[in-house]
Amino acid sequence: MLKNTFQHIPVLVGPAAEMLVWNPSGLYVDGTLGGGGHSAAFLSRLDPSGQVIGFDKDVDAVAASKERFKDQSGHISIMHHDFMNIEELLAGLNIGMVDGVFLDLGLSSYQIDTPERGFSFMADGPLDMRMNQTETRSASDIINRATEEELKHILYDYGEERLARPLAKAIIKSRQKATLQTTTNLVKIIKEVVRHRPVIKTCARVFQALRIAVNNELERLKSTLGSILPLLKPEGRLGIIAYHSLEDRMIKHTFREWATNCTCPPGLPQCVCQKEAYVTILTKRPIRPIEPEILGNPRARSAKLRMVEKLPGSTLKVA
Ligand SMILES: C[S@@+](CC[C@H](N)C(=O)[O-])C[C@H]1O[C@@H](n2cnc3c(N)ncnc32)[C@H](O)[C@@H]1O
Repeated sequence: MLKNTFQHIPVLVGPAAEMLVWNPSGLYVDGTLGGGGHSAAFLSRLDPSGQVIGFDKDVDAVAASKERFKDQSGHISIMHHDFMNIEELLAGLNIGMVDGVFLDLGLSSYQIDTPERGFSFMADGPLDMRMNQTETRSASDIINRATEEELKHILYDYGEERLARPLAKAIIKSRQKATLQTTTNLVKIIKEVVRHRPVIKTCARVFQALRIAVNNELERLKSTLGSILPLLKPEGRLGIIAYHSLEDRMIKHTFREWATNCTCPPGLPQCVCQKEAYVTILTKRPIRPIEPEILGNPRARSAKLRMVEKLPGSTLKVA
């Protein structure tokens, strides 16, 4: 049962669909289905034999998308899944390779705007922050059990928060008196540490850092990038929208590495590294939303879309 109306404005939907759907009768995976905004655009570019497989780890997103696409069930299959397991998922469906995979990372507006999910510092809610409600570790477990060093690492590495150390100390001190249970409890601590400085940016960084830690977002993205290329057909495309610099950096470097041929030092008579380029990069610079999109949807402002195409001769195949 949804806690709220499922609302989310898809970001960079036009460029994403135009670039991803190169074969109108192909099979495409949307690994972050959310409310289905991008999938709807992919479907609109497909002919009747084209198909989308959409999944999301959030139970509410899956329910909302099943409802949205109930009249198109012959063209889109919707499942509750983590994109990290895409290889097993496709193998279980007897699918070898697909024409395109798309990931729109981060949170949906529904998740942010539903206080019970605990993602927002603007509303009172439990310290939850699980994207997948069937997993057990929540933000409360981290806040109330992590060591000072672990908390500092999370806030500094994932939130790039300068006050990571004093914030970690303040959290430990506060939880010695009483367990921290709500977003309001956490915001109160942040306000006490920040004092006269603007508090909103610090709250945003702390909540973002915790969310990344709760959901293991960077590790899951890294593992997915490590397994995804063999799943693409020759000329198949992978498009990813990132909203966080750490994610975008990982995607940029991975794409560059995939696109690089021989890395032998210049002057060697012949190649000894055997390095093969697997893809061509379609977005030399990331595609970013233009002003009218940001005005209509401020949450789009940090989005960066990058896309690669698998080279027709690439030897990478599913094992
Ligand atoms: C920005 S929203 C996607 C919105 C979607 N493109 C749309 O148009 O409605 C990101 C979605 O990705 C999901 N998500 C994040 N990490 C995931 C993962 N590892 N596996 C599956 N879904 C994930 C979140 O639950 C969220 O619903």
